Amino acid sequence: MRIDIVTIFPEFFDVLDISLLGKARANGLIELGVHNLRDFTHDRHNTVDDTPAGGGAGMVMKPEPWGEALDSILDSGTSGSDADPIIIFPSPAGVRFDQKMARELADEQHIVFGCGRYEGIDQRVFDEYAERGRVRLVSLGDYVLNGGEVAVMAMIEAVGRLIPGVVGNPESLVEESHEDGLLEYPSYTKPAVWREREVPPVLRSGDHGAIARWRHEQQVERTRRVRPDLLPPELQHDA
Ligand code: ADE
Repeated sequence: MRIDIVTIFPEFFDVLDISLLGKARANGLIELGVHNLRDFTHDRHNTVDDTPAGGGAGMVMKPEPWGEALDSILDSGTSGSDADPIIIFPSPAGVRFDQKMARELADEQHIVFGCGRYEGIDQRVFDEYAERGRVRLVSLGDYVLNGGEVAVMAMIEAVGRLIPGVVGNPESLVEESHEDGLLEYPSYTKPAVWREREVPPVLRSGDHGAIARWRHEQQVERTRRVRPDLLPPELQHDA
């Protein structure tokens, strides 16, 4: 997969050199391009923002640098395939990011992330590229960040680990929160007793059927308590 990021804080993404995603880049599973939006300005101050049309507080990101940056990525043929890239702008006004979207994005060949700052990006940038291809505004959750960088980092981690080969043991992707619509069950390791707290005896019983049943009950109980909105209808009325 090819990932391009446009941002005014390219150094923010230096951490993608480390951990599992760093390894995936070294192995060629993920190819990353980080582009400084200010490199696509032509004034002495590398201006990327201006006052909002119609007045109001804050600043809005100007369309021209965005146009040049996105054109240079789309025209450079870096996608390594014939597939059209999907362009994602993180925004609190977007559709909610979730595991389903992460799975869909993991199938893409080329994702372009555009990190907005200030009060947002001039609407004409979204309109222009939506006319030319696939554009999505995506929100990490119902709260406001200072800019899209943290949201993009979270999305890249959630998507990147679903690309085949990135996580060593693919089975570990199956039994985790949100994969089957439920939150994950609690995990334990050795020692059997720590500070008088015991690992549940069923997990030490060797009875795999009983362990699977216990884990499922824990998932249902935890989801009902913490995230009742996620509970599938067939489990909603259990005592
Ligand atoms: N930018 C600012 N707030 C955001 C949010 N909640 N999700 C994604 N991008 C954002």
